[in-house]
Amino acid sequence: MDSIVVTGNGPLSGEIAIAGAKNACLALMPATLLTEEPLILTGAPRLSDIKTMTVLLESLGADAASLQDGQVLAMSSHDLKSTRADYDIVRKMRASNLVLGPLLAREGHAEVSLPGGCAIGARPMDLHQDGLEALGAEIELRDGYLHAKAANGLRGAQIALRFPSVGATENIVMAATLAKGTTVLDNAAREPEIVDLVRCLRAMGAQIEGEGTSRIEIQGVDRLGGATHRVVTDRIELGTYMLAPAIAGGEVECLGGTLDLVQSFVDKLVETGVEVEETARGLKVRRAPGARVQAVDVETAVFPGFPTDLQAQMMALLTTAEGVSQLHETIFENRFMHAPELTRMGAEIDVQGGTATVTGVARLKGAPVMATDLRASVSLILAGLAAEGETVVNRVYHLDRGYEQVVRKLRGVGAQVERVKG
Ligand code: UD1
Repeated sequence: MDSIVVTGNGPLSGEIAIAGAKNACLALMPATLLTEEPLILTGAPRLSDIKTMTVLLESLGADAASLQDGQVLAMSSHDLKSTRADYDIVRKMRASNLVLGPLLAREGHAEVSLPGGCAIGARPMDLHQDGLEALGAEIELRDGYLHAKAANGLRGAQIALRFPSVGATENIVMAATLAKGTTVLDNAAREPEIVDLVRCLRAMGAQIEGEGTSRIEIQGVDRLGGATHRVVTDRIELGTYMLAPAIAGGEVECLGGTLDLVQSFVDKLVETGVEVEETARGLKVRRAPGARVQAVDVETAVFPGFPTDLQAQMMALLTTAEGVSQLHETIFENRFMHAPELTRMGAEIDVQGGTATVTGVARLKGAPVMATDLRASVSLILAGLAAEGETVVNRVYHLDRGYEQVVRKLRGVGAQVERVKG
């Protein structure tokens, strides 16, 4: 198994191009199942999760071509041959469950494996299920699969989510585009990836209003057509690379970044003493080498709050802050797996339930560490940038799921990072 070796070597300088959003793309791709016409996505990230979704769509009978070195995905679901999302694919990637709503709307039935737990928590699907049932689907759990059917088609409904789940919002909105009548979804998720999905669905002919707010209204239509859509910038990749100069010192411009995607994260970064400037090309981040950042308290929340997907990376920064920081994780119950690894590098972290208390140390020390999930693995690389000596991050396959060309991007701003084949 490959590993990534990072040697802390001082301030960074230059620019990093931010890719299209993995999480937006993973919701946009299943939208192809809603139409017989081609759906073309541009600005797609080149990641193993995108390949996994491609394999899943192909297993359902869709054609999916990857063009321009993977940055353009051309998909067509003219002839579907299956409505079953197999356990072997779903267990690899939970976002596979996003085919449920589209398949149900298009074919009237679908069989989707339950994903099971993952490293960061239980991750049930009850909200997806309740929402689709409100639209008239009958869903039962058999052999580990959700068997969903809507014998008489889906009908618009009033739905209020108990929690603004991103995936449930996406599944319900996609299903409702082809339902009869109007659906009003309250307490909907407001993440930029939802806004991006709705814009694409609208380009395909869907009638939807209210994306980016807690109430989304969908007027069902008889059919959707094809579209060409550019994937929104990845705000998590953006935040991750903004943390590189914050941790190592120096100045890096993240191309394609905008403040509206990461405002609450930027607010916290600025509170630590890091400078952030919005430019015509992106977001520029600056920290004078030698000046320590200040401790801050962070609580993860749904958008527009501080994203849970940046919590591990923020913790990497706070390990070397002056003072004591508290990180409260409110979205997933088990998302501090990076803490013991950071501790191996000399960080002082005490985890009690959903709260991690980080006492800043002057300097981290390189060590062999183990990546446990996608965001945890990149937090260890970030920590390595500020550590004395060599940090070897093992199990980097997690990283390939969500960060394209991480080594090339970090080397481009002067970091000493390499991937070692194993
Ligand atoms: C998406 C993102 C993920 C991010 C998360 C929260 C994708 C592909 N993944 O995941 O990177 O960390 O949003 O911003 O977009 N829940 C239930 N019942 C459900 C569904 C969710 O209880 O039916 C709970 C989950 O266990 C979790 C919380 O709601 O505690 C948030 O989950 P959700 O917003 O659904 O996240 P995902 O869409 O899975």
